Amino acid sequence: MSRRRTVLHAAAALTAAIALPAARAQSAPFKVGLILPMTGPFASTGKQAEAGAKLWLAQNGAVAAGRRIELILKDDAGVADTTRRIAQELIVNDKVDVLVGFGLTPLALATAPIATQGKTPMVVTAAATSVITAQSPWIVRTSFTLPQVTVPIADWAAKNGVKKAVTFVADYGPGLDAEKFFKSQFLLNHGEMAAEIRSPLRGPDFAPFLQKVADLKPDAVFVFLPSGQGTAFMKQFSERGLDKAGVRLIATGDVTDDDILNEMGDVALGVVTSHHYSAAHPSATNKTFVQAFEAANRFRPNFMAVGAYDGLRVIAKALQATQGKGGGEALLGAMKGQVFESPRGPVLIDAQTRDIVQDVYIRKVERVAALGNQLYNVEFDVQKAVKDPGKAK
Ligand code: DHB
Repeated sequence: MSRRRTVLHAAAALTAAIALPAARAQSAPFKVGLILPMTGPFASTGKQAEAGAKLWLAQNGAVAAGRRIELILKDDAGVADTTRRIAQELIVNDKVDVLVGFGLTPLALATAPIATQGKTPMVVTAAATSVITAQSPWIVRTSFTLPQVTVPIADWAAKNGVKKAVTFVADYGPGLDAEKFFKSQFLLNHGEMAAEIRSPLRGPDFAPFLQKVADLKPDAVFVFLPSGQGTAFMKQFSERGLDKAGVRLIATGDVTDDDILNEMGDVALGVVTSHHYSAAHPSATNKTFVQAFEAANRFRPNFMAVGAYDGLRVIAKALQATQGKGGGEALLGAMKGQVFESPRGPVLIDAQTRDIVQDVYIRKVERVAALGNQLYNVEFDVQKAVKDPGKAK
């Protein structure tokens, strides 16, 4: 071999050696750390969100801009210290590009400083206390906020014959948001508040609280409980005879959650709620989504599934916008301002607040002949493009 050829060979080898890491980087998987309560009392949230995230990936080939999206699922069992530790490990050891999930407010709050320190975008797909997005500039939310869905039902109640109301909420972040915003909006509409009752988040016994409601005889009780607790509540509500005593039950859609609604039975019929998602939302996008979801899983999607489905969408489109390069700041920038048609309806990720702007529907539980004679939240009114009223102006 001539010297010239050897040099050329060496130069070619060198070029290849330099090019290789770049090519590898481009084709290296884009890592998404999904943290959810897969066990414990809030496991239904994890089950729904995992299925929602996986459906988005399955429908889109798990690729964006040529990069494979790798989902790393971790179970925090709904314990905040565990969520924080897992988030740290995912950033330091697994070098994830994005964190996603967060099934409850305390879990999201515990992780916010980790996202800030790690300069890692954190997409909250479930937790819904207003203040969460303000806890780190790296947080983007695809779920909802309690003030956002509560103000519309307080308006509806005042316009529909409810003069005296009681609030009944789980005693933590989202419940306190719901209580505060129901009360202020209802009072603004000339309603009268008879009491504000709170029940513990974990292992609640609703009986003593419901007895208090029965004694106060309001026109309606407004309820917020986290996803999964609605069935037990509804059972005790009817066992105490509150429905027969003429106390109307109104709530956010967390109580008549699609995951458990059909098992509640006739006691749920007629309950009016406000929320951003119903599996019966009559759009072509939602019908396709529900069909695909039910084909892949043996259960109906609820709002936790949609939050995670949209969360993966926001992440993948941001990756695409960076031509597959990713990078914390660039990804975050490309998440802000996204506008798209979700199964729930049209949505916007507000670039200023990083929170979701969406339609909020007023719905009534009905048995729907066209949907297999099952119970659904049937939408009958809407407030369009609702921003979180909990944000300081
Ligand atoms: C939260 C949890 C829920 O299950 C829900 O339905 C709404 C809010 C939360 O902890 O933020």
